[in-house]
Amino acid sequence: MIFQMCSCVKVPTILLNNGRHMPAIALGTYLGFGESGVVMSKDNEFRDVVLNAVDIGYRHFDTASIYSTERELGEAVRMKIADGQYKREDFFITTKLWNTHHKREQVASALRESLDRLALNYVDLYLMHWPMGLNVDHTYSEVDFMETWRGLEDVYKLGLTKAIGVSNFNLKQLKRVLEEGTVKPAAIQIEIHPLNVQKELVEYAQAQSLVVMGYSPFGSLVARHGQWSAGPRVNDTTLASIAEKYGKTVPQVVLRWEVERNIVPLPKTVKRKRLEENINIFDFKLEKEEVDKISDFDSGTRYTLPSFWQNHPYYPFEKVDNPIPDPFLSA
Ligand SMILES: NC(=O)c1ccc[n+]([C@@H]2O[C@H](COP(=O)([O-])OP(=O)(O)OC[C@H]3O[C@@H](n4cnc5c(N)ncnc54)[C@H](OP(=O)(O)O)[C@@H]3O)[C@@H](O)[C@H]2O)c1
Repeated sequence: MIFQMCSCVKVPTILLNNGRHMPAIALGTYLGFGESGVVMSKDNEFRDVVLNAVDIGYRHFDTASIYSTERELGEAVRMKIADGQYKREDFFITTKLWNTHHKREQVASALRESLDRLALNYVDLYLMHWPMGLNVDHTYSEVDFMETWRGLEDVYKLGLTKAIGVSNFNLKQLKRVLEEGTVKPAAIQIEIHPLNVQKELVEYAQAQSLVVMGYSPFGSLVARHGQWSAGPRVNDTTLASIAEKYGKTVPQVVLRWEVERNIVPLPKTVKRKRLEENINIFDFKLEKEEVDKISDFDSGTRYTLPSFWQNHPYYPFEKVDNPIPDPFLSA
């Protein structure tokens, strides 16, 4: 199924397990973290990025209450609808519940606040951002993520969201949601790039009919939010030779590697040229050997590793020896 009728890039969609369709790529909307906390858009810059993105072909946007981009994203979407060229159904908006609202009765009010910022009546997908609850002062809350999941089931039944899912859950935690929940999650969002292939979790989730969304798709290839991480760069010879074969760039090849694995990549950019580059990945295919070659980079490296929460009972990842201080407390 093709999601849109325009001269822009035609993005295919993936069928969710509740019968709805998700566009196969989303624009990431997290602008990074600076000295005073989450980076905010100034002078409607981000709204204008979204307006450009829609013209180019993006219909799926990945935000979260913690990103501070919901307001400008919603404004851009409403401007496009007001133009008369698009309907609300042409867009797919994903947002996320932050950790400080994990009690069942807090979930509906948190989503209503997101909807107020977006100025929309519903979102297409609501994700539990992390399995860990926090108190407002960022001390650990003991709320069981299954209680939070009941809250997500409530907002799904209320029609405030068309689908629900989880993010940053490990395999065991996802299995628990599937066993104990009454509504099946439609999607799981996790970090995926060549250094973090997540084979086991991806295959399990897909076998259970969840759509997997891959965040930070570029990993170490580019400077993410101005910071370089250890690992292969965009000029890596293996990746560059695959890109050359198809007349594509390395970022395009890595995004296509996710598409070949039926993963929905979530690349973030605020630059028009890169918006175009990142979405132009549906006119070529990688050979299986090339997909495998890219997967061979796997070292299980995570760039989103909130080790400051690692003593939380629901921390999803492996513990490290020297946890970093909580940046939310020092911002
Ligand atoms: N669920 C979660 O916990 C979670 C965690 C992290 C991220 N996410 C989601 O995933 C999205 C993407 O993750 P991310 O922002 O960490 O990483 P990313 O998309 O892999 O990398 C973003 C960085 O790459 C640059 N970039 C984008 N396209 C490029 C290209 N074609 N060539 C060279 N550089 C390029 C961007 O710079 P410019 O903007 O300057 O182009 C930006 O600095 C987020 O925005 C968010 O929506 C979710």
